[in-house]
Formats: sequence, structure tokens, C-alpha cells
Amino acid sequence: MELQWLWMFAATLLTCYIFVSKVMRNLNGWYYDLKFKNKQYPLPPGDMGWPFIGNLWTFFKYFSSGRGETFINNIVHKFGRIGIYKTHLYGSPSIIVIAPAICKKVLIDEVTFKIGYPKAATELAKSKLLNSENGRFKRLVAAPIIGRNVLEMYLERIEDIVINKLEELSSMKHPVEFLMEMRKASFEFVIHIFLGSCDQSNVKKFGDLFNVMCIALFSLVPINVPGFAYNKALKARMKFVKIVQYIIYERRMTIKNGQNGKNNDLLDIILQIKDESGEKFEDKDIIDLLITFLFGAHETIATTIMWSVMYLTQNPLCLKKAKEEQEEIMKARPPSQKRLSIDEIKQMVYLSQVVDETIRHVSNFSTFREATTDVNINGYFIPKGWKVLVWLSALHMDPEHHSNPEEFNPTRWDDYNPTTGSFIPFGVGRRLCPGRDLARYKISIFLHYFVLNYRLERINSECPLTSFPQPKPIDNCLARIIKLSNS
Ligand code: HEM
Repeated sequence: MELQWLWMFAATLLTCYIFVSKVMRNLNGWYYDLKFKNKQYPLPPGDMGWPFIGNLWTFFKYFSSGRGETFINNIVHKFGRIGIYKTHLYGSPSIIVIAPAICKKVLIDEVTFKIGYPKAATELAKSKLLNSENGRFKRLVAAPIIGRNVLEMYLERIEDIVINKLEELSSMKHPVEFLMEMRKASFEFVIHIFLGSCDQSNVKKFGDLFNVMCIALFSLVPINVPGFAYNKALKARMKFVKIVQYIIYERRMTIKNGQNGKNNDLLDIILQIKDESGEKFEDKDIIDLLITFLFGAHETIATTIMWSVMYLTQNPLCLKKAKEEQEEIMKARPPSQKRLSIDEIKQMVYLSQVVDETIRHVSNFSTFREATTDVNINGYFIPKGWKVLVWLSALHMDPEHHSNPEEFNPTRWDDYNPTTGSFIPFGVGRRLCPGRDLARYKISIFLHYFVLNYRLERINSECPLTSFPQPKPIDNCLARIIKLSNS
């Protein structure tokens, strides 16, 4: 009798196993295949994951443990190198694209593929002004951060921030979280571009509130209930908006009193611009734009600086080459010149390759679009309303386009042909990053001062990584910044 129970128990377990692994696991995929079975073209191959949650758990597992590339590598390995796959992420059926030509096509065709970031990012960083269809207006908004004149205007300010930050860090008795310090420095800089010389206590308040917002930006499950990160981020955003609203009010008063445009910052410019119907922009739209700028600039610059310093530290030959280039530039400088010039930055060829190579390694994992209509691409069907994820990190680590992709090798950029579209860290098309030159300059200026005068000593060089949304050590690169004795 006991044996019979045992058999029954084993049979039940086996049935459950088969049901879960063969039926439940494939239910989502079958559902979508059935739904679109009459279409001329099939959905791309791929894995739609579990009912309701899709591939959320697998995504979280790999990205939170610093192995984000494994998520996409497994898909490529299982379904072949076709460059377009179906999946289910962030609560939506989605298409992942990683082939250069398809990535470009998706990013350039703004009519078929509108912006489609996940819910948390859309709510926290919405910007009606950047989403404007009016190209002239977009150019006006981006003008204060593009072009040589602009870079010249900010050069001194960037240098001051870099010099002071490095001096401050090297004078600290205890190790610092290098990434957090770089975040503070890039935050201060973007606030400067947008709000000019803003009260330092406000910068500190903005910084604290903004950090809370950043934590939830790519929330996989944005739950607006007290205690959850997304709820805290929305509250922080409200406080942030109130402070900026007051700054805008003061600025409007100044302008009303006839002192137009004295601050030379983005806020002054936007307060003067009128929309298509001749109306000036509302406070809400201006604040949304500031927040989008901050999200665009803050984490990206900080992470790239941290990794470029870490890569140079780990690769003494690259560090030596970078240092020699900077020493050459300093030798050629006239004695009367005390500060960096734009021409000198343009001569930093190897350093700019270090920047590109770093960005290639640590790109944000994806940009997000949404299909506005049913569309066929490369013989595959993308249904209207599906998200389309242009998976930049996979594109940039593809061995077909970047030989030996894991290797940190700045000289690979000596013979790079940019027309292939296999390196698009700043996007392409109308949403191409307006801060790309500024970002490169800022990182180069930091590296210039760093390689000549400092070195980094990490406390936990083997510290585990997380790769969400960009790769970083979980200790935020806890380190000492040491001033070189000859500097
Ligand atoms: C290493 C640094 C940076 C990287 C890798 C980067 C990357 C990107 C990418 C890939 C996009 C396109 C997103 C899309 O197509 O959905 C973008 C857009 C944007 N970036 Fe950057 N960015 C960087 C620095 C900056 C800086 C310094 C600023 C501002 C000062 C900035 C402001 C923006 C803005 C406002 C957008 C939105 C443009 C639009 O939607 O029209 N970024 N960035």
C-alpha cells in the first residue's frame, strides 16, 4: 500500500514538472504565435517567458549579478545570429534588435517607431519639449549644449569642477565611493548649464532628491505604494519640481524687470523661446526638460569616467600611452597659457579612443521604442504597440563588428569605419544625444588631469558587479585617489 502511495506521489511530481516546464513555460509564446498566425510574416524567433511576467526574472537575475550580457548571449546562442528576437520585458511583449542595420532603421524611422521607454522612466523623465515634432524648436533647446563656442564657454567651468574634485578626493583620509563622487561632479555641471550659478545649498538639495529618482528610473516593477522605490522617486520629483518652480518664478521676475538673459544659461534661453502658436513655455514643461537633461547627463558621464579610470589603471600600457600623449600636449603649451584649450583637447587622439573604447564596453543596455503600426522588418513581423529595444550593449560587444570585444583596446579605433552603424552609443536620427560632444569633452578633461597627476587605488579590486542599467562594481568603486609625488 505504501509503495502505491509512493508511486502516486512520484507520478504527481512528474506531471507537475511536465506541466510547469512544457506547458506553463511556453504558454506565453503559444499565445502570441496563435494571435498573429495569419500575418504574412512570422514573429521573430525568441522566448516570451512565463505568463504575465515574461522574462522579467531571468533579466533581473543576470543584470543584478553583473552578467547582463549573458541574458542576450543566451538568446543569440539559442536562436541564431539573426539580429532580431521576440521577448517579454517590462510587462510588454517586445522585440530586441542587435543587428547594426536594423538598429539604425528603428532609430531613424521616428514615424513607425516612437519613443517607448518603460513606465518609470516615462513618468520620471517625461519631456514634452524634447518630444516636440518641431525640429526648429528642438534645435533651439539643444543649442546651448552643442558646438565649439558653447564648449569654449563651459571649458573653464568644467576644468574648475574637475580640478577641485580631484584635489578634494585626494585630500580625503578615508576611501571614497568614486562613482558617487563623479555623479556629484556631473550633476553640479548640468545644473550649471541649465540654471547658471545656482545657490550651492540648492544644488545639494537637488542632488539628494535626484539620487532618489535615479534609483527608480528603470524600475522593473514600478509600484506606486509607500515604501517602494518608485513611490519614493515620484515624491522626490514633486519636491524637486517645487524648488525649481521657485527659481523659475524668480527668473521670470528678473526678466520682467528688464534684465533679460544675464545668466547665459539654458533657462534664460528657454524662457525667451515661443512655441508654434507664439506662446511661451509653461513652468512644468521647462522643469520636465531640466529633469530629462539631468537623467541624460548625470549617470552616463559619471559611469564612463569611473570605468575609463578603472580600465586605464588595469591596463598599464594604455595608461602609459595616454599619459605620454598628455605630457606632449603640455610640453607644446606656451608658458603664458595656464588652462586647457579646445585645440589641445582636439589633439588628444589616443585619449578620445580611450573614451570610445570605454563607452563601447559600458553602454546603457538599451534604448526603447514602440511600434506605432504593424511593420515587417527583414522578413519578420513587429505588431503595433510592441516595444522595440535597440540593445546597444550587445551591438557594441558583437565579435562580428568588434574583434575580441572583451579586450580593452583603444587602438581598435585607429581603423574604425563609422558608417557601419556598429557603434552608436549616442543613438542616431532625430533623438541623437545633444550632449555627446559635451560629454566627450568633459570626460577627456577629467582624464587629462587624472593621468597627469593622480592614480586610483581600489579597496576591493575583485568587487562583484551589477549591470543594471549600466555595469558598475557594487561598492561604487570604493577607492583612494592618490596624488602623484611629481605633480
Ligand atoms: C557618455 C555620455 C552620454 C551617453 C552615452 C549618452 C547617450 C544617449 C543616447 C543613446 C541617447 C538617445 C536615446 C534614445 O534614442 O532613446 C541620448 C539622448 C539624450 N541625451 Fe545623452 N548621452 C550622454 C551624455 C549626455 C549629456 C552630457 C547630456 C546633456 C548635457 C545628454 C542629454 C541627452 C538628452 C537631453 C537626450 C534626449 C534627446 C532627445 O530625446 O531628443 N546626454 N543620450
